[in-house]
Amino acid sequence: MKLYIINGPNLNMLGVREPDKYGSESYDALVKKISEHLTALGVDAVFYQSNHEGDLVDKIQEAYFEKADGIVINPGAYTHTSIALLDALLSVKIPTVEVHISKVEEREDFRQISYVRLAAAKTITGRGFQGYIDACDFLIGGKK
Ligand code: DQA
Repeated sequence: MKLYIINGPNLNMLGVREPDKYGSESYDALVKKISEHLTALGVDAVFYQSNHEGDLVDKIQEAYFEKADGIVINPGAYTHTSIALLDALLSVKIPTVEVHISKVEEREDFRQISYVRLAAAKTITGRGFQGYIDACDFLIGGKK
C-alpha cells in the first residue's frame, strides 16, 4: 500500500508560523511522525510540500500514475480558493482525506469554504499533527 502525503503553501514554515495555531514543531518533525507510523504498519509513503498550486496539481496526477492507494492532503490556503486542486482530485478518484492542523470551522469566514472537501472522503480539523495520523489510519482501514 502506498499513500501520498501532500502539504500546500506555508506548511514548510511549521514551527515558525503562528505557533498558537499550528504548534511549535517543524515540517520535518511532521514528516518523521507520519513516516514512523507508516513504517511500523508496512505502508509506503511519498511526502511532498509545495508553495505552488500547479506543482500540487502535478503531484496529485503523479499519485494516479504511480498507483497510490490514498492521498492525505492539507492544501493550506489553497483549500479555500483552488478549483484546480478539486478538479485534480476528482480526476484521479483516489481516496482522499483533507487535513487541517487548526480548527478551521472556528476561524475566519473566508476559511469556511473548502473546494477540496467536495472530493474528500473525510475531513479532519483541529487535531494538530495527530490529524495526519488519523487520516492515514482511515485510508489504511478502508483498504483492509
Ligand atoms: C490550514 C488552515 C488554512 O486555512 C490555512 O490557510 C493554512 C493551514 C491548517 O492546517 O489548519 O495554511 O490548512
